Amino acid sequence: GAGFIGANFVLGWCARHDEPVVNLDALTYAGNVASLAPLAGNPRHVFVRGDIGDADRVAHLFAAHRPRAVVHFAAESHVDRSIHDAAAFIQTNVVGTHTLLECATRHWVDATGRDPAFRFLHVSTDEVYGSLGPDDAAFSETTPYAPNSPYAASKAASDHLVRAWHHTHGLPTLTTHCSNNYGPLQFPEKLIPLMLLNARTGKPLPVYGDGANVRDWLHVSDHCAALRVVLDRGVPGRTWNIGGKAERRNLDLVHALCGILDTMCPDSPHRPHASLITFVTDRPGHDRRYAIDAARIAAELGWTPAVRFEDGLAQTVRWYLDHAAWVDGVTSGRYRDWVDLHYGSTVA
Ligand code: TYD
Repeated sequence: GAGFIGANFVLGWCARHDEPVVNLDALTYAGNVASLAPLAGNPRHVFVRGDIGDADRVAHLFAAHRPRAVVHFAAESHVDRSIHDAAAFIQTNVVGTHTLLECATRHWVDATGRDPAFRFLHVSTDEVYGSLGPDDAAFSETTPYAPNSPYAASKAASDHLVRAWHHTHGLPTLTTHCSNNYGPLQFPEKLIPLMLLNARTGKPLPVYGDGANVRDWLHVSDHCAALRVVLDRGVPGRTWNIGGKAERRNLDLVHALCGILDTMCPDSPHRPHASLITFVTDRPGHDRRYAIDAARIAAELGWTPAVRFEDGLAQTVRWYLDHAAWVDGVTSGRYRDWVDLHYGSTVA
């Protein structure tokens, strides 16, 4: 709940509901407690620094707070890091999900008497489906799994665990597969914030390969709205794809972003920002195209994306320009010092 999507979800939840949230986050490099600053002093938001793989800690939280639902966002998610070293991905995404499932099941059985209203919502990715050719139909919920990166494989493994805990133990699970998210609070290792912040400071904009890879962009506020609907009305054991209906080639996206920056920063010495675009060596195993068919969630639960990509992109650029302190915090390392000071240098 201190990562990009989780923090957006928790902020949106607390703005809409009186129901309390216990927010468990290990505060690794991409988790940022500063993202939750608007909730300071809110008695309905309880922040706990801890690891989903710590069974004692998680069991204690279930006993203390008796949640009616778990919304599981905790994951290592950056493909390039998983190529470099997958250990943390296996630990958090696979082992951590297993621990969370075990603790949730024990709580569901022992403390709730198998309450059919309990929910375990597992937030996954479209990357478990592999890569599409230019003319292939978009991923649907029945597309066979074909994870290509160590990251995608770890998420696929966690999806299978969630499926098995429903099938075998009856845990009321819900699973979602989203396309690439963008919006406020995203850590600047992912394409959009990375390009944005590099362009602002006149650094090269590293486009992998030929820049013709396609991603299907989903505004994080649309994603969170979809998750609320799934949590509210989704039938346990089912899966839903969530996409923004906004397929873009990376190079086109980076050009659009540079154009927005040219307009919003007319005095920048780095205009035209597109002159900073640099083609670099491709990512190994780089998936060519992702695209989501979100017909099921539209038909069953009435959700469709509301944010037009060009509007969402401009709003996102504006957000990063207006939140220099947040950006400085996550990029300077001073944020890490602050976390260690307040929470201790080891996971509490
Ligand atoms: P990314 O944000 O890492 O998400 P994912 O790999 O999960 O889709 O990357 C989005 C696309 O942008 C992907 O095709 C890789 C590409 N990319 C670049 O070209 N340069 C970069 O510096 C990064 C981080 C990504």
